[in-house]
Amino acid sequence: MSGMNTEIVKVDAANIDETVIEKAADIIKNGGLVAFPTETVYGLGANALDADASKKIYEAKGRPSDNPLIAHIASLDTLDEIVEDVSDVAKKLIDKFWPGPMTLIFNKKPNVPDSTTGGLDTLAVRFPSNKIAMELIKSSGVPIAAPSANTSGKPSPTKGEHVIEDLDGKVDMILDGGEVGLGLESTIIDVTDKPTILRPGFITQEMLEEVIEEVELDKTLLAKPSEDFAPKAPGMKYRHYAPKTELVIVKGDAKGVAERIREEIENFDGEAAIITVDEHQSLYEEVDAKVVSWGSLENMNAIAHQIFDALRRVDDWGVDIIYCEAFEEKDLGLAVMNRLTKAAGYQVIDV
Ligand code: TXA
Ligand code: MG
Repeated sequence: MSGMNTEIVKVDAANIDETVIEKAADIIKNGGLVAFPTETVYGLGANALDADASKKIYEAKGRPSDNPLIAHIASLDTLDEIVEDVSDVAKKLIDKFWPGPMTLIFNKKPNVPDSTTGGLDTLAVRFPSNKIAMELIKSSGVPIAAPSANTSGKPSPTKGEHVIEDLDGKVDMILDGGEVGLGLESTIIDVTDKPTILRPGFITQEMLEEVIEEVELDKTLLAKPSEDFAPKAPGMKYRHYAPKTELVIVKGDAKGVAERIREEIENFDGEAAIITVDEHQSLYEEVDAKVVSWGSLENMNAIAHQIFDALRRVDDWGVDIIYCEAFEEKDLGLAVMNRLTKAAGYQVIDV
Protein backbone atom coordinates (compact mmCIF):
# COMPACT_ATOMS: atom_id res chain seq x y z
CA MET A 1 0.00 0.00 0.00
CA SER A 2 2.01 2.96 1.23
CA GLY A 3 5.06 1.00 0.13
CA MET A 4 7.26 1.61 3.15
CA ASN A 5 9.81 -1.14 3.56
CA THR A 6 8.88 -2.91 6.79
CA GLU A 7 11.56 -5.00 8.44
CA ILE A 8 9.98 -8.07 10.04
CA VAL A 9 12.11 -9.85 12.65
CA LYS A 10 11.28 -12.86 14.80
CA VAL A 11 12.27 -12.38 18.43
CA ASP A 12 12.43 -15.12 21.05
CA ALA A 13 11.48 -13.71 24.46
CA ALA A 14 13.56 -16.44 26.15
CA ASN A 15 16.64 -15.52 24.17
CA ILE A 16 16.44 -11.91 23.04
CA ASP A 17 18.86 -10.80 20.35
CA GLU A 18 20.16 -7.47 21.67
CA THR A 19 21.22 -6.22 18.25
CA VAL A 20 17.60 -6.46 17.07
CA ILE A 21 16.38 -4.54 20.13
CA GLU A 22 19.02 -1.86 19.57
CA LYS A 23 17.98 -1.47 15.97
CA ALA A 24 14.32 -1.16 16.96
CA ALA A 25 15.22 1.32 19.72
CA ASP A 26 17.14 3.45 17.20
CA ILE A 27 14.02 3.61 15.03
CA ILE A 28 11.97 4.80 18.04
CA LYS A 29 14.62 7.39 19.00
CA ASN A 30 14.60 8.69 15.42
CA GLY A 31 10.84 9.17 15.34
CA GLY A 32 9.88 5.94 13.54
CA LEU A 33 7.31 3.20 14.18
CA VAL A 34 7.96 -0.26 15.65
CA ALA A 35 5.28 -2.87 16.36
CA PHE A 36 6.13 -5.12 19.32
CA PRO A 37 4.52 -7.79 21.50
CA THR A 38 3.23 -7.09 25.01
CA GLU A 39 1.61 -9.59 27.37
CA THR A 40 -1.87 -8.30 26.39
CA VAL A 41 -1.85 -7.64 22.64
CA TYR A 42 0.72 -6.29 20.15
CA GLY A 43 1.41 -2.56 20.31
CA LEU A 44 2.35 -0.08 17.58
CA GLY A 45 5.05 2.05 19.18
CA ALA A 46 6.53 5.51 18.74
CA ASN A 47 8.29 8.01 21.02
CA ALA A 48 5.48 9.31 23.26
CA LEU A 49 7.29 12.63 23.78
CA ASP A 50 7.73 13.33 20.05
CA ALA A 51 4.59 14.96 18.61
CA ASP A 52 5.42 14.06 15.01
CA ALA A 53 6.24 10.45 15.84
CA SER A 54 2.97 9.82 17.65
CA LYS A 55 1.07 11.46 14.77
CA LYS A 56 2.48 8.77 12.47
CA ILE A 57 0.74 6.13 14.59
CA TYR A 58 -2.69 7.55 13.74
CA GLU A 59 -1.84 7.51 10.06
CA ALA A 60 -0.57 3.91 10.03
CA LYS A 61 -3.65 2.64 11.89
CA GLY A 62 -6.20 4.89 10.23
CA ARG A 63 -7.12 5.94 13.78
CA PRO A 64 -9.24 9.01 14.61
CA SER A 65 -6.95 11.70 16.04
CA ASP A 66 -9.10 12.34 19.14
CA ASN A 67 -8.36 8.83 20.40
CA PRO A 68 -5.50 9.09 22.93
CA LEU A 69 -2.57 6.68 23.19
CA ILE A 70 -1.16 4.74 26.13
CA ALA A 71 2.42 5.61 27.14
CA HIS A 72 4.41 2.46 27.97
CA ILE A 73 7.18 2.73 30.55
CA ALA A 74 9.82 0.36 31.93
CA SER A 75 10.70 2.20 35.13
CA LEU A 76 8.77 4.15 37.76
CA ASP A 77 11.19 7.09 37.42
CA THR A 78 9.75 7.66 33.95
CA LEU A 79 6.26 7.86 35.45
CA ASP A 80 7.25 10.92 37.50
CA GLU A 81 8.66 12.59 34.39
CA ILE A 82 5.35 12.44 32.50
CA VAL A 83 2.49 12.68 35.02
CA GLU A 84 1.39 14.72 38.08
CA ASP A 85 -0.35 13.66 41.28
CA VAL A 86 0.36 9.97 41.74
CA SER A 87 -2.12 9.33 44.58
CA ASP A 88 -1.82 6.75 47.34
CA VAL A 89 -4.53 4.73 45.65
CA ALA A 90 -2.53 4.73 42.42
CA LYS A 91 0.62 3.74 44.33
CA LYS A 92 -1.14 0.73 45.83
CA LEU A 93 -2.31 -0.44 42.43
CA ILE A 94 1.14 0.08 40.95
CA ASP A 95 2.76 -1.94 43.75
CA LYS A 96 0.41 -4.82 43.16
CA PHE A 97 -0.14 -4.93 39.39
CA TRP A 98 2.88 -3.38 37.62
CA PRO A 99 4.53 -4.63 35.55
CA GLY A 100 1.36 -6.11 34.09
CA PRO A 101 -1.90 -5.71 32.15
CA MET A 102 -3.10 -2.53 33.91
CA THR A 103 -3.26 1.00 32.49
CA LEU A 104 -3.74 3.99 34.79
CA ILE A 105 -4.98 7.44 33.80
CA PHE A 106 -3.17 10.40 35.44
CA ASN A 107 -2.96 14.16 34.93
CA LYS A 108 -0.21 14.71 32.40
CA LYS A 109 2.87 16.90 32.59
CA PRO A 110 3.35 19.61 29.92
CA ASN A 111 6.17 17.73 28.15
CA VAL A 112 3.69 15.14 26.82
CA PRO A 113 2.41 16.42 23.47
CA ASP A 114 -1.26 16.77 22.51
CA SER A 115 -0.86 14.31 19.67
CA THR A 116 -0.14 11.58 22.24
CA THR A 117 -3.13 12.39 24.46
CA GLY A 118 -5.59 13.37 21.73
CA GLY A 119 -5.64 16.86 23.26
CA LEU A 120 -6.63 15.64 26.76
CA ASP A 121 -4.99 16.90 29.98
CA THR A 122 -4.69 13.32 31.15
CA LEU A 123 -2.31 10.55 30.09
CA ALA A 124 -2.79 6.77 30.10
CA VAL A 125 0.32 4.90 31.34
CA ARG A 126 1.19 1.21 31.40
CA PHE A 127 4.25 -0.74 32.57
CA PRO A 128 4.11 -3.97 30.54
CA SER A 129 5.63 -7.22 31.80
CA ASN A 130 6.54 -8.70 28.44
CA LYS A 131 10.36 -9.04 28.22
CA ILE A 132 10.63 -7.85 24.62
CA ALA A 133 8.49 -4.79 25.36
CA MET A 134 10.55 -3.98 28.46
CA GLU A 135 13.86 -4.28 26.64
CA LEU A 136 12.64 -2.10 23.79
CA ILE A 137 11.39 0.65 26.12
CA LYS A 138 14.59 0.60 28.22
CA SER A 139 16.80 0.65 25.17
CA SER A 140 14.83 3.52 23.59
CA GLY A 141 15.22 5.62 26.72
CA VAL A 142 11.79 7.22 26.19
CA PRO A 143 8.21 6.27 27.04
CA ILE A 144 6.65 4.49 24.06
CA ALA A 145 3.16 5.49 22.95
CA ALA A 146 1.45 2.37 21.68
CA PRO A 147 -2.10 1.57 20.73
CA SER A 148 -2.97 -1.98 19.71
CA ALA A 149 -1.13 -2.76 16.46
CA ASN A 150 -4.20 -3.37 14.30
CA THR A 151 -5.86 -1.36 11.57
CA SER A 152 -8.47 0.79 13.32
CA GLY A 153 -11.76 -1.12 13.64
CA LYS A 154 -10.22 -4.61 13.40
CA PRO A 155 -9.68 -7.02 16.29
CA SER A 156 -6.52 -6.35 18.31
CA PRO A 157 -3.53 -8.45 17.20
CA THR A 158 -2.54 -11.39 19.37
CA LYS A 159 -0.10 -13.01 16.91
CA GLY A 160 2.74 -11.63 14.81
CA GLU A 161 0.87 -12.64 11.66
CA HIS A 162 -2.08 -10.39 12.61
CA VAL A 163 0.26 -7.41 12.81
CA ILE A 164 1.88 -8.29 9.49
CA GLU A 165 -1.59 -8.60 7.92
CA ASP A 166 -2.54 -5.09 9.05
CA LEU A 167 0.69 -3.08 9.09
CA ASP A 168 3.21 -4.51 6.63
CA GLY A 169 4.28 -1.58 4.44
CA LYS A 170 3.07 1.02 6.95
CA VAL A 171 5.64 0.82 9.77
CA ASP A 172 9.43 0.65 9.96
CA MET A 173 9.75 -2.59 11.87
CA ILE A 174 7.67 -5.43 13.29
CA LEU A 175 9.07 -7.52 16.17
CA ASP A 176 7.32 -10.87 15.87
CA GLY A 177 7.38 -12.48 19.31
CA GLY A 178 4.81 -15.18 18.47
CA GLU A 179 1.52 -15.45 20.29
CA VAL A 180 0.89 -13.10 23.23
CA GLY A 181 0.24 -14.45 26.72
CA LEU A 182 -3.14 -12.95 27.62
CA GLY A 183 -4.96 -11.87 24.47
CA LEU A 184 -7.18 -9.02 25.73
CA GLU A 185 -6.07 -5.41 26.13
CA SER A 186 -5.18 -4.05 29.56
CA THR A 187 -7.69 -3.03 32.21
CA ILE A 188 -7.87 0.79 32.14
CA ILE A 189 -8.49 2.57 35.45
CA ASP A 190 -8.96 6.31 35.81
CA VAL A 191 -7.24 7.31 39.06
CA THR A 192 -7.54 11.09 38.64
CA ASP A 193 -10.73 10.97 40.70
CA LYS A 194 -12.76 8.11 42.22
CA PRO A 195 -11.09 4.98 40.75
CA THR A 196 -13.17 3.91 37.76
CA ILE A 197 -12.68 1.07 35.28
CA LEU A 198 -12.91 2.51 31.76
CA ARG A 199 -12.07 -0.76 30.01
CA PRO A 200 -12.35 -4.18 31.70
CA GLY A 201 -9.58 -6.76 31.30
CA PHE A 202 -7.76 -9.62 33.03
CA ILE A 203 -7.36 -7.54 36.17
CA THR A 204 -10.97 -7.51 37.33
CA GLN A 205 -12.95 -5.19 39.60
CA GLU A 206 -12.80 -7.88 42.28
CA MET A 207 -9.00 -8.10 42.09
CA LEU A 208 -8.70 -4.32 42.28
CA GLU A 209 -11.01 -4.14 45.29
CA GLU A 210 -8.71 -6.49 47.17
CA VAL A 211 -6.10 -3.73 47.03
CA ILE A 212 -8.08 -0.47 47.19
CA GLU A 213 -11.51 0.06 48.61
CA GLU A 214 -14.03 0.88 45.97
CA VAL A 215 -13.72 0.74 42.23
CA GLU A 216 -16.53 1.89 39.98
CA LEU A 217 -17.38 0.63 36.52
CA ASP A 218 -17.86 3.18 33.73
CA LYS A 219 -21.55 2.85 32.88
CA THR A 220 -20.92 2.68 29.16
CA LEU A 221 -18.87 -0.55 29.20
CA LEU A 222 -21.59 -2.59 27.53
CA ALA A 223 -23.94 0.12 26.26
CA LYS A 224 -24.08 1.64 22.84
CA PRO A 225 -22.45 5.08 23.07
CA SER A 226 -24.74 8.03 22.46
CA GLU A 227 -24.58 11.79 22.94
CA ASP A 228 -25.62 11.71 26.57
CA PHE A 229 -23.78 8.48 27.25
CA ALA A 230 -20.24 9.04 26.07
CA PRO A 231 -17.63 6.60 27.38
CA LYS A 232 -14.76 8.18 29.32
CA ALA A 233 -12.17 6.35 27.23
CA PRO A 234 -12.60 8.10 23.87
CA GLY A 235 -11.60 4.97 21.95
CA MET A 236 -14.48 2.96 23.36
CA LYS A 237 -17.01 4.85 21.26
CA TYR A 238 -15.70 3.63 17.92
CA ARG A 239 -16.72 0.53 15.98
CA HIS A 240 -14.25 -2.07 17.06
CA TYR A 241 -13.11 -5.64 16.70
CA ALA A 242 -15.66 -6.09 13.94
CA PRO A 243 -15.75 -8.93 11.43
CA LYS A 244 -17.37 -8.21 8.06
CA THR A 245 -20.00 -10.88 8.69
CA GLU A 246 -23.06 -9.78 10.65
CA LEU A 247 -22.72 -10.83 14.27
CA VAL A 248 -25.58 -11.04 16.78
CA ILE A 249 -25.19 -11.74 20.50
CA VAL A 250 -27.99 -13.67 22.22
CA LYS A 251 -28.30 -13.31 25.98
CA GLY A 252 -30.24 -15.36 28.54
CA ASP A 253 -30.34 -18.85 30.07
CA ALA A 254 -28.69 -21.52 27.92
CA LYS A 255 -31.89 -23.33 26.86
CA GLY A 256 -33.77 -20.12 26.05
CA VAL A 257 -30.82 -18.83 24.06
CA ALA A 258 -30.51 -22.05 22.04
CA GLU A 259 -34.26 -22.04 21.35
CA ARG A 260 -34.17 -18.42 20.17
CA ILE A 261 -31.13 -18.98 17.94
CA ARG A 262 -32.87 -21.99 16.37
CA GLU A 263 -35.95 -19.84 15.62
CA GLU A 264 -33.88 -16.97 14.24
CA ILE A 265 -32.05 -19.34 11.90
CA GLU A 266 -35.27 -21.02 10.73
CA ASN A 267 -36.55 -17.59 9.71
CA PHE A 268 -33.27 -16.46 8.19
CA ASP A 269 -32.74 -16.65 4.47
CA GLY A 270 -29.07 -17.56 4.13
CA GLU A 271 -26.22 -19.50 5.70
CA ALA A 272 -25.81 -19.18 9.45
CA ALA A 273 -23.21 -20.10 12.05
CA ILE A 274 -23.45 -20.40 15.82
CA ILE A 275 -20.73 -19.66 18.34
CA THR A 276 -21.28 -21.58 21.55
CA VAL A 277 -19.28 -23.24 24.33
CA ASP A 278 -18.50 -26.94 24.92
CA GLU A 279 -21.21 -27.23 27.60
CA HIS A 280 -23.99 -26.07 25.24
CA GLN A 281 -22.94 -27.65 21.96
CA SER A 282 -25.45 -30.49 22.20
CA LEU A 283 -28.34 -27.97 22.27
CA TYR A 284 -27.71 -27.24 18.58
CA GLU A 285 -27.57 -30.77 17.16
CA GLU A 286 -30.76 -30.32 15.14
CA VAL A 287 -30.02 -26.84 13.82
CA ASP A 288 -29.02 -26.24 10.21
CA ALA A 289 -25.91 -24.15 10.86
CA LYS A 290 -22.19 -24.37 11.31
CA VAL A 291 -21.65 -24.77 15.06
CA VAL A 292 -18.35 -23.68 16.62
CA SER A 293 -17.33 -23.86 20.26
CA TRP A 294 -14.97 -21.28 21.75
CA GLY A 295 -14.06 -23.68 24.56
CA SER A 296 -15.28 -24.59 28.01
CA LEU A 297 -16.94 -22.19 30.45
CA GLU A 298 -14.64 -23.75 33.03
CA ASN A 299 -11.77 -21.94 31.38
CA MET A 300 -12.73 -18.34 30.62
CA ASN A 301 -9.02 -17.48 30.37
CA ALA A 302 -8.69 -19.72 27.34
CA ILE A 303 -11.84 -18.27 25.77
CA ALA A 304 -10.59 -14.72 26.31
CA HIS A 305 -7.17 -15.67 24.96
CA GLN A 306 -8.44 -16.76 21.55
CA ILE A 307 -11.33 -14.34 21.01
CA PHE A 308 -9.52 -11.80 18.79
CA ASP A 309 -7.90 -14.48 16.65
CA ALA A 310 -11.31 -16.16 16.32
CA LEU A 311 -13.00 -12.88 15.33
CA ARG A 312 -10.38 -12.38 12.61
CA ARG A 313 -11.17 -15.80 11.14
CA VAL A 314 -15.00 -15.88 11.15
CA ASP A 315 -15.22 -14.14 7.77
CA ASP A 316 -13.55 -17.20 6.22
CA TRP A 317 -16.54 -19.33 7.21
CA GLY A 318 -18.48 -17.93 4.28
CA VAL A 319 -21.77 -17.57 6.21
CA ASP A 320 -24.20 -14.63 6.10
CA ILE A 321 -24.85 -14.30 9.81
CA ILE A 322 -23.34 -15.50 13.06
CA TYR A 323 -25.22 -15.90 16.34
CA CYS A 324 -23.02 -15.92 19.40
CA GLU A 325 -24.05 -16.85 22.93
CA ALA A 326 -23.46 -14.17 25.54
CA PHE A 327 -21.20 -14.77 28.54
CA GLU A 328 -22.03 -13.87 32.12
CA GLU A 329 -20.92 -10.27 32.72
CA LYS A 330 -18.76 -10.90 35.73
CA ASP A 331 -15.00 -11.19 36.23
CA LEU A 332 -13.31 -11.94 32.93
CA GLY A 333 -16.75 -12.44 31.36
CA LEU A 334 -17.29 -8.68 31.59
CA ALA A 335 -14.13 -8.01 29.57
CA VAL A 336 -15.13 -10.62 26.98
CA MET A 337 -18.66 -9.19 26.69
CA ASN A 338 -17.28 -5.64 26.38
CA ARG A 339 -15.28 -6.70 23.28
CA LEU A 340 -18.03 -8.95 21.88
CA THR A 341 -20.81 -6.36 22.09
CA LYS A 342 -18.65 -3.92 20.16
CA ALA A 343 -17.74 -6.58 17.59
CA ALA A 344 -21.47 -7.15 17.11
CA GLY A 345 -22.12 -3.43 16.64
CA TYR A 346 -24.36 -3.63 19.77
CA GLN A 347 -26.76 -6.11 18.18
CA VAL A 348 -27.86 -7.99 21.28
CA ILE A 349 -31.05 -10.03 21.63
CA ASP A 350 -32.26 -10.43 25.22
CA VAL A 351 -34.19 -13.66 25.59
O1 TXA B 1 -3.14 -3.73 26.50
C1 TXA B 1 -3.16 -2.60 26.03
O2 TXA B 1 -3.58 -1.62 26.67
C2 TXA B 1 -2.63 -2.42 24.60
C3 TXA B 1 -1.14 -2.76 24.60
C4 TXA B 1 -0.47 -2.45 23.30
O3 TXA B 1 -0.52 -2.08 25.65
N1 TXA B 1 -2.89 -1.10 24.12
C5 TXA B 1 -4.13 -0.69 23.76
O4 TXA B 1 -4.18 0.61 23.26
O5 TXA B 1 -5.13 -1.36 23.86
P1 TXA B 1 -5.41 1.18 22.44
O6 TXA B 1 -4.94 2.49 21.94
O7 TXA B 1 -5.85 0.21 21.43
O8 TXA B 1 -6.50 1.44 23.50
C6 TXA B 1 -6.32 2.48 24.43
C7 TXA B 1 -7.62 2.89 25.03
C8 TXA B 1 -8.51 3.64 24.06
O9 TXA B 1 -9.85 3.23 24.24
C9 TXA B 1 -8.32 5.10 24.51
O10 TXA B 1 -9.41 5.91 24.21
C10 TXA B 1 -8.11 4.94 26.00
O11 TXA B 1 -7.32 3.80 26.10
N2 TXA B 1 -7.34 6.07 26.56
C11 TXA B 1 -6.07 6.43 26.28
N3 TXA B 1 -5.73 7.55 26.94
C12 TXA B 1 -6.80 7.91 27.67
C13 TXA B 1 -7.08 9.01 28.56
N4 TXA B 1 -6.17 9.95 28.82
N5 TXA B 1 -8.31 9.06 29.13
C14 TXA B 1 -9.24 8.09 28.88
N6 TXA B 1 -9.02 7.05 28.04
C15 TXA B 1 -7.83 6.97 27.45
MG1 MG C 1 -7.10 -0.78 20.18
